[in-house]
Order: sequence, then structure tokens, then C-alpha cells
Amino acid sequence: MDSALCWKLLCVAAVSVSLEGLFRYWWKRRKSVKEVLFFPVSLSCTEGVLNPGVPCLCPLPHTDSDLHRLMRRLMEARRSLELCIFTFSSPPLARAVLLLHSRGVRVRVITDSDYMATVGSQIGALRKAGVEVRHNQSSGLMHHKFVLIDKTLVITGSMNWTMQAIQTNKENLLITDDKVLVSAYVKEFEELWNEYDPATYDFFPETDK
Ligand SMILES: *[C@@H]1O[C@H](CO)[C@@H](O)[C@H](O)[C@H]1NC(C)=O
Ligand SMILES: *[C@@H]1O[C@H](CO)[C@@H](O)[C@H](O)[C@H]1NC(C)=O
Ligand SMILES: [Zn+2]
Repeated sequence: MDSALCWKLLCVAAVSVSLEGLFRYWWKRRKSVKEVLFFPVSLSCTEGVLNPGVPCLCPLPHTDSDLHRLMRRLMEARRSLELCIFTFSSPPLARAVLLLHSRGVRVRVITDSDYMATVGSQIGALRKAGVEVRHNQSSGLMHHKFVLIDKTLVITGSMNWTMQAIQTNKENLLITDDKVLVSAYVKEFEELWNEYDPATYDFFPETDK
């Protein structure tokens, strides 16, 4: 083969390899996340999500459920996790959040002040571990229930993060990476985060001053 032909073949090969890479990238981007989870789910072990590949010998059933799907989404976080949730008492979800925190993911939590200190609340444990937590500072309920993962995925729906809700209530969660929807939730989170900044805490209503 003469060297000119050789070069041509090499060029064609190089171009097709890079085209294939581009195509793969586009395909991955095109496949947007659209997922809906339903609860209740029956009790089963979630250790496999937290420690993939490590066999678990506990007596609970090791079946997959929508709770596992939710936790797998959470564990995808690499940079940040924002939780805006009314009540948080579920131990497996708390373990997932603490694990992400220990891996260096920036976790921020906004919750309702009334439910922060109720029995079984995981907020204390999160605070103790160094997770940043803020709560509502006005009488209006902080009734949101949404989560942001790496500011590119939002999980939102009716579900309280309680075992009661997970195992007995009819609840739904919607997961999407739609840019327009996600950015609306990011904006809402940042606004509440600033509004609930303890530095600007107003202990006394205007009339008492
Ligand atoms: C937060 O909202 C709750 C209602 O769930 C309310 O009772 C509580 O007083 C609010 N917290 C503050 C600090 O205003
Ligand atoms: C969420 O949890 C709170 C406190 O445990 C409870 O009062 C409320 O009814 C729950 N909401 C739903 C939708 O389950
Ligand atoms: Zn197990």
C-alpha cells in the first residue's frame, strides 16, 4: 500500500472514532431522566445500595423496591445534595445522606422547625455529623418535599422521609433532569436558604420591638 492511501485510511478511521464518541455523548444527553416512584413499599434491606457488592446476611428480605431506586439516585450525588423536606426520620435515608456527607458531597438541609425535634427525627444526627441545616423562621409550614442532586436532578413529590410514609402511605415521587424544572427548584432552594439564614433570624415580631 502506498503511504498516501495509508494516511487516507488513517484519517477516515480517526474521524469515525471521534464521530462515534460524539454520537455516544449526544445519545447519553438525549436520554433524559424521567422516573416516577410509588410507595408504600414493603420492608426490605437497603444495605446493598450503600455498600454495593458486599453481601449482606441480615434476616430482612433482599428484594429491590422503589425505596432502593430512590436511594440509588441519592447515591449518584458527587458534588452537592440539597434536601428541602418537611419531616426526616427514615434511618436508611439518613444513612445514605450521612454517607454522601462523609464522602465530601456538600449536603444542605432545610426542614420545618416543629418537626426537627420530634421523636426519631434524623436532623440531630445530621447536624452532629456537620451537615448544614436550616429551618423555617416564620409560622408558615415548610411543607416542601424535594431533593436536588448535583443541581442537575430534582426528586419531588408527596413523600415525607419517614418510615410511616415509605411503608404505609400512598405516595409518589417524580425524578427529572429537565433543565427548566431543575433550575426552578434550585432557585427556590437558594431563596429559602437565604431567608432561613440564622444570621438574619428575627426573634421578635415587629410589634414587640
Ligand atoms: C415553622 O413552621 C411550623 C409549622 O409547621 C410552626 O409551628 C413553627 O413555629 C415555624 N417555626 C418558626 C421558627 O417560626
Ligand atoms: C408528614 O409528617 C408529618 C409529621 O410526622 C405529619 O404530620 C404529616 O401528616 C405527614 N404528611 C404526609 C403527607 O404524610
Ligand atoms: Zn441485609
